[in-house]
Amino acid sequence: MSKLLRIGVLASGGGTNLQAIIDRCMDGSLAAEIAVVITNNPGAGALDRASSVGVPTLCINHRDFSQRHEFDGAVVKALQDAGVELVVLAGFMRILTPHFVNRFLGQLMNIHPSLLPKYPGLHTHQRAIDAGDSEAGATVHFVTPELDGGPTIVQARVPVLKNDTAELLANRILAFEHQIYPLAAEWFCQGLLELRDGNIIFDNELLPAEGVSLEIREKQ
Ligand code: GRF
Repeated sequence: MSKLLRIGVLASGGGTNLQAIIDRCMDGSLAAEIAVVITNNPGAGALDRASSVGVPTLCINHRDFSQRHEFDGAVVKALQDAGVELVVLAGFMRILTPHFVNRFLGQLMNIHPSLLPKYPGLHTHQRAIDAGDSEAGATVHFVTPELDGGPTIVQARVPVLKNDTAELLANRILAFEHQIYPLAAEWFCQGLLELRDGNIIFDNELLPAEGVSLEIREKQ
């Protein structure tokens, strides 16, 4: 069996994206192991999801640090100690310092619940509804120092329905997040993805701004 890539996951909340990645590691379709799950939130559901399957966890509470760079330094050290080769942000609600981002540049991914570059930041679903958008979605992107601004790896597009609330739309998009995030991690594990001079090279070709083009269906 070929070597498993070591993934570090940073999560602050429920951890359903973490779960999707755990599931794909466990069924063998993702050639990776989760080396550590780190949270800044002692109450994060992600901690239970990880520890229930024996994945090492660590809580590094940002409230224990007076400076952002000290918190980031502790997280970087923990990831390095765990020998992490890919860092996956899965609902991690802290903004990372450029020092952190540059340390893992090209090995650091995020998932954001909008069709970036539309709606960086918070309340993305409500903003899409308020704007009367006909479609919304989620984006997996490499992280660069600009918030939600790194190049897109893959997007899932989801229609906005007439009676959508932010919650309904968020739940529908989340189901697609659970497909595209493990997929992007898998491409990384297969050595297909490379961040080069702010662009993505996918399978030796320059990727267009909207990322890998993909037909994704809702799972039944
Ligand atoms: C997801 O909507 C993700 O796009 C965003 O935070 C949410 C995390 O959800 N970055 P979960 O903790 O993975 O369930």
